[in-house]
Amino acid sequence: MWVEKYRPEKLSELVDQETIKQRLKLMLERKAELPHLLLAGPPGSGKTTTALIVSKQILGEYWRDYTLSLNASDERGIDIVRERVKKFARFADRREGVPYRMVILDECDEMTKDAQTALRRIMEETATFTRFMLLCNYSTGIIEPLQSRCAILRFQRLGEAAVVAHLRSIAKREALKSSDEAAFGAVFEATQGDLRQAINLLQAASASGELTEESVNSVTGASVKSRVAGVIKLAVEGNFEASRVKMLELTRVYGIPERDFLRFANEAVGEMKIDGMAKAVAILAEYDYRLVQGAQPELQLTAMLAQLSLLGRKGE
Ligand SMILES: Nc1ncnc2c1ncn2[C@@H]1O[C@H](COP(=O)(O)OP(=O)(O)OP(=O)(O)O)[C@@H](O)[C@H]1O
Ligand SMILES: [Mg+2]
Repeated sequence: MWVEKYRPEKLSELVDQETIKQRLKLMLERKAELPHLLLAGPPGSGKTTTALIVSKQILGEYWRDYTLSLNASDERGIDIVRERVKKFARFADRREGVPYRMVILDECDEMTKDAQTALRRIMEETATFTRFMLLCNYSTGIIEPLQSRCAILRFQRLGEAAVVAHLRSIAKREALKSSDEAAFGAVFEATQGDLRQAINLLQAASASGELTEESVNSVTGASVKSRVAGVIKLAVEGNFEASRVKMLELTRVYGIPERDFLRFANEAVGEMKIDGMAKAVAILAEYDYRLVQGAQPELQLTAMLAQLSLLGRKGE
């Protein structure tokens, strides 16, 4: 897997995220004062990678033994987190060069408010011997008292230039043949700043040892945009259930970010010249706003498709 093979080991290897790199560099100069961290941002932008780098820098060769990595959403509740953190804190004595233990909690924005409140207590109780790194896509999904206990690092979706440059360097190291410019552009177009997906697509599209725009397109099939257009078409035709299933496939399986889904949906509506276009655009705009506010994205997109499909039915 190229995503693992080329996962950065040092802050300096991290693509983009300049502000974060600078802030962390300063923080890592004073290990003892490292605050809890909240790493927020889109998928495939380097959050997990950064958390692992911080852990390695703080704990050196012992990092594996002194880092607990949990998925906050699927470890069946906060009690498990509490139990594991406490057990982990007791296990193994203090060691020279290990100032504290590190806990990486992924998908924190999927935790309930109650669980987050409990987490806040756990963080307080264990503050002398642990530092937490909380990872999430939307910081708005994290309760205020937790946010205020952390230094917040906001990851940006990676831009085209940075992604293409990184892909090109991987292609070079893998000695890919005929890496034409359009091929890299097509990878970016299909993955929109999610570097994990971009690297996966690069690997899949160059399975033959050759990377071309055609090989990229044959892996992605129809472009992301036309897939989203298909979902919107189903919805405005009044076929809510089918559009919902397709939308979930795009966001979950293909990992298309919700905001991108809306962006493509807007373009699709513009090109479809449907009746009630103004209403459709108003609906998209409302849900765009809700997503920015950090409302639960999947639920919001589902509700949006439901509204669009009502629009379609009225026209019958
Ligand atoms: N900023 C980056 N610089 C270099 N490589 C990156 C960067 N972001 C992501 N990658 C690549 O993508 C892979 C996945 O990144 P990572 O696990 O850090 O994403 P993430 O932000 O935690 O995403 P998710 O929200 O889906 O967990 C890494 O192994 C690495 O190859
Ligand atoms: Mg991650």
